[in-house]
Amino acid sequence: MSTGQPLPHDSAQLHVTGQARYVDDIPVPAGTLHLAFGLSTVARGAITALDLGPVRAAPDVVAVLCAADLPHANDVSPAAHDEPLLATGRVHYVGQPIFLVVARSHRAAQRAARLAQISYAPETPLLSIEEAMAANSYFEGGPITWAMGDVDTALAQAPHHVSGQIEIGGQEHFYLEGQAALALPNDDGACHVISSTQHPTEVQHKVAEALGLPMHMVRVETRRMGGAFGGKESQGNALAVACAVAARATGQPCKMRYDRDDDMMITGKRHDFRISYRAGFDGQGRLLAVDFTHYTRGGWAQDLTLPVADRAMLHADNAYFIPNMRIESHRLRTNTQSATAFRGFGGPQGVLGIERVIDHIAHHLGQDPLQIRQRNFYDMASKGSNSPRIRTHYGMELRDFALPEMASQLAETAQYATRRAAVAAWNRDNALIKRGLALTPVKFGISFTLTHLNQAGALVHIYQDGSVHLNHGGTEMGQGLNQKVAQVAAHALGVGLGAIRITATDTDKVPNTSATAASSGSDLNGMAVAQACATLRQRLSAHLAARFGVAESEIRFGDGQVQAGQTTLSFAEAAASAYMARISLSATGFYKTPDITWNRQTGRGQPFFYFAHGVALTEAAIDVLTGETRLLRTDILHDAGNSLNPALDIGQVEGAFVQGAGWLTMEELVWDATGRLRTHAPSTYKIPAASDTPAQFNVVLWPQPNGVETIHRSKAVGEPPFMLGISAFLAISDAIAACGGAYPALDAPATPETIRNAVKAQATHGV
Ligand code: MTE
Ligand code: HPA
Ligand code: CA
Repeated sequence: MSTGQPLPHDSAQLHVTGQARYVDDIPVPAGTLHLAFGLSTVARGAITALDLGPVRAAPDVVAVLCAADLPHANDVSPAAHDEPLLATGRVHYVGQPIFLVVARSHRAAQRAARLAQISYAPETPLLSIEEAMAANSYFEGGPITWAMGDVDTALAQAPHHVSGQIEIGGQEHFYLEGQAALALPNDDGACHVISSTQHPTEVQHKVAEALGLPMHMVRVETRRMGGAFGGKESQGNALAVACAVAARATGQPCKMRYDRDDDMMITGKRHDFRISYRAGFDGQGRLLAVDFTHYTRGGWAQDLTLPVADRAMLHADNAYFIPNMRIESHRLRTNTQSATAFRGFGGPQGVLGIERVIDHIAHHLGQDPLQIRQRNFYDMASKGSNSPRIRTHYGMELRDFALPEMASQLAETAQYATRRAAVAAWNRDNALIKRGLALTPVKFGISFTLTHLNQAGALVHIYQDGSVHLNHGGTEMGQGLNQKVAQVAAHALGVGLGAIRITATDTDKVPNTSATAASSGSDLNGMAVAQACATLRQRLSAHLAARFGVAESEIRFGDGQVQAGQTTLSFAEAAASAYMARISLSATGFYKTPDITWNRQTGRGQPFFYFAHGVALTEAAIDVLTGETRLLRTDILHDAGNSLNPALDIGQVEGAFVQGAGWLTMEELVWDATGRLRTHAPSTYKIPAASDTPAQFNVVLWPQPNGVETIHRSKAVGEPPFMLGISAFLAISDAIAACGGAYPALDAPATPETIRNAVKAQATHGV
């Protein structure tokens, strides 16, 4: 049947031929106006004078708006109401929108936006972790701490210790399609917004607030995004609201897209972190206690910083049972772009923290890091014993944990032991090129930690010719959600995929949706669609059972046909028959994730429905003279449950690994001393190219169904494999360690410069 088939993305052909339409490709009505923001050039201070005369006088400018011109709410934040669309007297980062230009062309708007005369009373910006802490500049007033067990006593009694710190850089999303929106004003004052957003309902909400309208007066539509990666979860609000407000002011359709430089200067990025640690362990490397401190720069506005920092804490154990653990988390407000959601949502930073600790322990004891990992894994076999090793630091008991088997299998198939010996031999013989190896696991919690977001809706119509049209609340950003959901519907109705059509996500079709985020798109929307299809199938069955005088249990759907006892109808005939009998052929579906509870203040509960697992083994080489690196080979075994579509899932695993490795090995964000982001274009910000993928790259899916009841027992796959990129970072670290000396304590990203400095610091053998 349809589910489980390795079908290509439904838009693959449109993508590769350039025919797929993104917001900026949609033909616009005559008279459409174009917008650009005027941006702050100062990181912190008051605006003392604002002369927009030259902007207004520029060619093709129709209107210029600043905060005082906005008709209603001036806020584009997801929750905290701390993010004005246009600055109100003060600026908080270089790149903050201060005014909005409405012009007859995109270029005219952009040119005019640079002509404002703005005077500031600049203040010293809070840029670093130290500066923010010294100024007590926190979200929520101060740090928060979660603890399990007695960390101080366990640390004091532990026979062995390591301590250290890792700096972890942020990351630009670098979606190929920049942020964009188009607002079309209706004759009745309503507004139709087409937005490149992962969260149409939030855009609807923010546009309604900005126009002073009820939500039913705003319709938001999203056909597809050219990549999003979390960067369009909240960062599209500003463009959509700007377009809606300008359309209200001018009566004309308004469109806005950020050029790449503007996109990088204005929008939030992955949260950078500093993680410091103290760990106590026994002679076998078994963890007895870990004390973590997380510091993160959230930027100027709260956005999603609190749940991101929470998820980092929730993943501070990764795959390991840690009997005593404390995590103190500092969420700092700084004068930089407001850091936001990015694939993994804090999880990757938390996971890297504990993986660094394990790696450090292995080096300290002179033992193999894989063995240390295996000794510390949660242990399902210990369930029911006196000291079960299955409880996380937030009090949740694991119900399924595949990593011991997965790690053993990957070590076997990718020949870990043989290659470990070969790498050691290579390193003995080669002074200038060093090699390293790392096998790292990931366990990633699936569900939004904010419990109410774990819901989804769907709307399914069967037309009288048997064709099916459906909508769900998820958005398509390249991950293949629509194809997976279509496969679910085809399976449920027993029809071919050609019978199913999914159109743009639309707040008119399915209301009150959650962002397509937290990897939950197919889990939530797949279930909602399956439920709607079950309702329709039930109605068809009842009708056909009555018509042919058979029991409902004798009605069978499959291969585009319906079997009613001895009679066979095509699905189209069955639909036509139900239509003639006046049976409703339209149904909604709804799903909410069961069995989750969470209290983020106490750090206790069962925040996740289940966990997705994966393991990666990467071999890397470094040039000790230049610091350049190559990924020689990566082998991955990833757990997508009963995959809904193995082709799409393998694509997700490959892409996520490369994006994760890019984060930790080459993508570097640099702000100067005035708070200006200097890496705001591909000329200065380096993302992985096709040639940066491992020379040998083997991805295999773990063939076990999900232990809990998800759609066809599949598992979410969007974010978890991102963290497999950590194997690339630790393989590089292993290669540096081969230069001799103390534990390398490498910071991320491991750029050539960082690697070169780390090699030099390996005191005894540095070249
Ligand atoms: N894959 C592509 N091609 N483009 C994207 O923007 N976003 C990732 C992941 N895979 C993304 C992607 C992120 S951050 C998430 S949360 C999931 O897809 C969202 O989709 P899903 O929940 O349907 O898996
Ligand atoms: N990922 C994980 N958890 C989340 C996200 C996300 O993008 N958004 C809100 N919670
Ligand atoms: Ca933030």
